[in-house]
Amino acid sequence: MSEEIVYAHLKLRDSVKKENMQKSEKHRGEVPSAPSCSQHKTVLILILLCLLMLVGLGVLGGLFHTTLETEIIKSNELQGIKEELQRNISLQLMLNHNSSKIIGNLSAMLQKTATQLCRELYKKEPEHKCKPCPKGSKWYKDSCYFKLGGLRTWQKSEIQCSVQNASLLKIKNKSVLEFVKSERLNNYWLGLSPRKDQAKSEKLTETIFLSAGFEGSMPDLSKMYCGHIQGMYVYYSPCIWEKNVMCEGTASNVQVESVLNDLPEESL
Ligand SMILES: *[C@@H]1O[C@H](CO)[C@@H](O)[C@H](O)[C@H]1NC(C)=O
Ligand SMILES: *[C@@H]1O[C@H](CO)[C@@H](O)[C@H](O)[C@H]1NC(C)=O
Ligand SMILES: *[C@@H]1O[C@H](CO)[C@@H](O)[C@H](O)[C@H]1NC(C)=O
Ligand SMILES: *[C@@H]1O[C@H](CO)[C@@H](O)[C@H](O)[C@H]1NC(C)=O
Ligand SMILES: *[C@@H]1O[C@H](CO)[C@@H](O)[C@H](O)[C@H]1NC(C)=O
Repeated sequence: MSEEIVYAHLKLRDSVKKENMQKSEKHRGEVPSAPSCSQHKTVLILILLCLLMLVGLGVLGGLFHTTLETEIIKSNELQGIKEELQRNISLQLMLNHNSSKIIGNLSAMLQKTATQLCRELYKKEPEHKCKPCPKGSKWYKDSCYFKLGGLRTWQKSEIQCSVQNASLLKIKNKSVLEFVKSERLNNYWLGLSPRKDQAKSEKLTETIFLSAGFEGSMPDLSKMYCGHIQGMYVYYSPCIWEKNVMCEGTASNVQVESVLNDLPEESL
């Protein structure tokens, strides 16, 4: 009986030992129980951080979305205003264009009327202020005609005319021909090209002025012949002879104010 108890006791001790040994063996292979607690904390913190980040992302996304929406609305509004402005501007430009066309027409009409009125005033008073030609000159069509006092060679006449922004008398068309005939000019140089031969006299017509002038350098005029007017005819004489001079310049525009400000009482 007692042997059995001892045996059982030993057996028990053995098994306790074994158990302990097994436990310690197990413990050696496993993570210690104290660090396992802090690990849980870390995981928890990480999860919390993740959640926070998610929430932050959500808030940011929401903010971004609303900002984007308002920006889109704003840009659409701006686009609309821009288009309206463009429409307004093009309308304004068209109105301006039409207005300036009307103003252009009106001022052209005013200019025409002033010129006609000035021609009437000029008929009555040859030195009227409105005359678009230098003092002492005759106004015919769009040209001014004026005589230079004294006699000159053809070349000096030409130079003297050009000094006054004019040229020697030319007859470019029938209308000017009539005017020149009415002037009854005798022994006046004409703006014809000098010739090498002394051509016969010919009837004064506008066609003889059609020939082109000389090209290149001026020829030696001392041996050449220049045309001059004798009533209804053109004659040719040595260019170095001296004759009368009539110059022809371009009339400027009639100044509207010169007509309006200076109308005689009876014509108002
Ligand atoms: C465009 O013109 C209209 C009237 O012509 C005006 O009411 C509107 O304000 C203008 N728009 C802009 C953007 O100026
Ligand atoms: C401007 O003139 C054009 C023709 O030249 C015409 O078609 C248009 O209707 C005019 N616009 C205005 C606003 O008067
Ligand atoms: C301007 O005048 C021309 C002819 O001179 C005419 O054809 C045109 O219609 C006029 N325009 C306006 C806007 O009055
Ligand atoms: C004739 O010529 C003169 C002077 O160059 C000019 O003023 C006038 O307009 C012309 N007339 C015609 C109908 O061509
Ligand atoms: C000469 O005439 C031209 C046009 O024919 C003009 O532009 C210029 O102003 C005139 N010069 C003088 C001094 O009259």
